[in-house]
Amino acid sequence: MSDDPLHTRLCDEYGCEVPIVAFAHTKDVIAAVTNAGGIGVLGAVGSTPEQLHSDIAWIKERVGDRPFGVDLLVPASFVEGNHEDLESMIPQEHRDFVSRLMTENNIPKPKGPVRGALEDGLLKQSRALLEVVFDEQVPIFASGLGSPAFIKDEAHAHGTKVWGLVGLPRQARRQIEAGVDVVIAQGYDSGGHSGTVGTFTLVPEVVAMAEGTDTLVLAAGGVSNGRQLAASITMGAAGVWTGTIWLATHESATEMFLKQRLIEARAEDVYQSRATSGKPIRQLPSKWGDAWKQPGAPDPLQMPLQPMLVDEILAGIREAHMDDWMTTPAGQSVVGIHEIKPAAEVVYQMVEEAQDAFDRITGAVVGV
Ligand SMILES: Cc1cc2nc3c(=O)[nH]c(=O)nc-3n(C[C@H](O)[C@H](O)[C@H](O)COP(=O)(O)O)c2cc1C
Repeated sequence: MSDDPLHTRLCDEYGCEVPIVAFAHTKDVIAAVTNAGGIGVLGAVGSTPEQLHSDIAWIKERVGDRPFGVDLLVPASFVEGNHEDLESMIPQEHRDFVSRLMTENNIPKPKGPVRGALEDGLLKQSRALLEVVFDEQVPIFASGLGSPAFIKDEAHAHGTKVWGLVGLPRQARRQIEAGVDVVIAQGYDSGGHSGTVGTFTLVPEVVAMAEGTDTLVLAAGGVSNGRQLAASITMGAAGVWTGTIWLATHESATEMFLKQRLIEARAEDVYQSRATSGKPIRQLPSKWGDAWKQPGAPDPLQMPLQPMLVDEILAGIREAHMDDWMTTPAGQSVVGIHEIKPAAEVVYQMVEEAQDAFDRITGAVVGV
């Protein structure tokens, strides 16, 4: 066992040099973080199987034997039904609200037909993409919504480890009992789909649950610097899982105006809204999110009805480049973004800060 506190069980079991995991949708970020000694995990929801095959091949070519992963959504609560049944469940009040938004704000209809990533085929799509993950023997499969326990044995047979994101202690318990390899305890402050319990509260509780089992715990939500990495390890996590901080890296495909807004945003600016997916997503403020918070706006519908309702208007907004209406998922860790940097530099800086933090503690103890 190493006496370097940054060399955790994650490093032993996965072969990374530092216990920093980066979630991102851009394959270039994944390769850069993995090659800098961390682990990149590619968000692949919305990909086609062909695209995912080619993205994985691209990453493998650059990272060789170093560890990386693929993340998909396999939500537990999801309204089931065929497309027509689901369409009929969308209330007229909601359709009228969206039409009004389009007319009053000159939002054009998109040019082609729209079928978003979170529509009725999500579970079927995820299943098809999982086949690609297994075929390619990707080292890690992470599930962003819903427990991946059902797929554990099949994944292990292909040499793929299974990781699950949780926002509540009871979800963590279920996954730990099911033998999921890594549980990512993701707090309220995180970007993307996020729950109600803070990282500082959730992580130690999940770590205590995992004690004596083979499951490792990663801390997520609000992590953007090395002090937080050191704190996470001190709380018993085997490392950190991070998202927002990579959006403003050189390698990220996030549009430049959004990168600029990430630099300017304060922790209190990012808010949770169910307006896009039907589940709470913490994000940069926008006219889109604001519109659903106005008095008189209907309550967003459940997943997948909300995306079915809004995918067209969102595509219109994107095509017309209505920047004020556009947003990105982002967490309170925006406070850690001050400039656009290479992803490797973010990794090295976080490691250096964490080492300093540990040195300060050791120095303080020695100095007593
Ligand atoms: C732009 C963005 C998109 C995200 N999309 C997903 C996703 O598709 N699947 C998933 O498991 N997590 C997703 N997340 C959440 C991240 O995996 C991660 O848990 C979160 O960003 C951690 O908190 P942080 O943003 O404070 O670092 C997303 C986060 C961001 C910022």
